[in-house]
Amino acid sequence: MLVLGFQGSPRKKGNTHFLLSSFMHAAEKLGAQTRTIEVTKKNIDACKELIVCEKKGYCPIDDDMKHEIYPLIRQAEVVVIGTPIFFYNMTAQLKAMVDRCQTFWARKYVFKLRDPAQKMRRGFLLSVAATKGKNLFEGLELTAKYFFDAIDATPAGSLTYREIEGPKDMANHPTVLEDVEIAVEKLLKPFLNRRKILFACRENACRSQMASAFAQHFAGDRLEVFNGGSEPAQKINPDMAKVMEETGIDMAYRIPKTIDEAISQSPPEIIITMGCGEQCPYVPGARRQDWDLPDPAGKSIEYMRNVRDEIERKVKDLITEL
Ligand SMILES: Cc1cc2nc3c(=O)[nH]c(=O)nc-3n(C[C@H](O)[C@H](O)[C@H](O)COP(=O)(O)O)c2cc1C
Repeated sequence: MLVLGFQGSPRKKGNTHFLLSSFMHAAEKLGAQTRTIEVTKKNIDACKELIVCEKKGYCPIDDDMKHEIYPLIRQAEVVVIGTPIFFYNMTAQLKAMVDRCQTFWARKYVFKLRDPAQKMRRGFLLSVAATKGKNLFEGLELTAKYFFDAIDATPAGSLTYREIEGPKDMANHPTVLEDVEIAVEKLLKPFLNRRKILFACRENACRSQMASAFAQHFAGDRLEVFNGGSEPAQKINPDMAKVMEETGIDMAYRIPKTIDEAISQSPPEIIITMGCGEQCPYVPGARRQDWDLPDPAGKSIEYMRNVRDEIERKVKDLITEL
């Protein structure tokens, strides 16, 4: 389970930093893998409104969004944004990241593609501000709501604090740690006892990618799904992405990884192998099933479609059985 946090304050070790790191620490205590992006240290260009995303489905700007942040968002079960209020909204640096997620908006609303994790991902908002006005967080809450919609995360709550100004005010707040603990427990509860399944193939570019996307798509937050390959390719197979798009499922920003990487955080209970041969993993106690599926790489698009349909059938049967 990946909890991805965006720290939007430029102040080193200030209030947002304290609040988000307490949140991530509480998530780790419950077994989550966490990753915090210090947004102000990243190379993230503001949106240039080139409209390439709305015409072609991707952003042409070559920066950390492309190489790191889009893939991480697609991988995360929970996305947390943490920011101080700057003029009734998030900081400019965090807003640049949010605006660049117009690419996800375009894939969802222009191209009508569904992120396979859409039924599973949750969004959470953390914020602090110096004053105490009634409407202090309203602008931010609206921006966060539409950001979470674009990245297919269901808003699952927020913690916001007024009258927090000096850099240590948050750390000195009497209830913050308890508030965070309660919120994190409630947020992560649905993710804690999911059955863990690994789909493994050779390159992690076609078969295991399709199987894990179908499993996420059909099972939502009932399964924790991993995928990996014994000899991972550099990138996913474009024909595979194309035939999955024909079913409405979006495979963008998925990156092949090794089987070890895929299961480094927690061992799977069920392993489905598809052609990784001798190198398919052995995990003590895990149930293993071999799916006899030919490698569609380098074959015709029709062949890829047939393998896709066979995988979809098998995944549905597996979910019913579980
Ligand atoms: C440029 C700027 C704009 C701000 N705008 C607001 C504001 O509109 N309302 C408010 O209550 N506080 C505002 N603040 C105060 C910060 O939200 C507050 O000091 C916060 O605790 C800083 O958190 P940090 O330590 O995580 O950076 C602003 C601060 C700055 C630097």
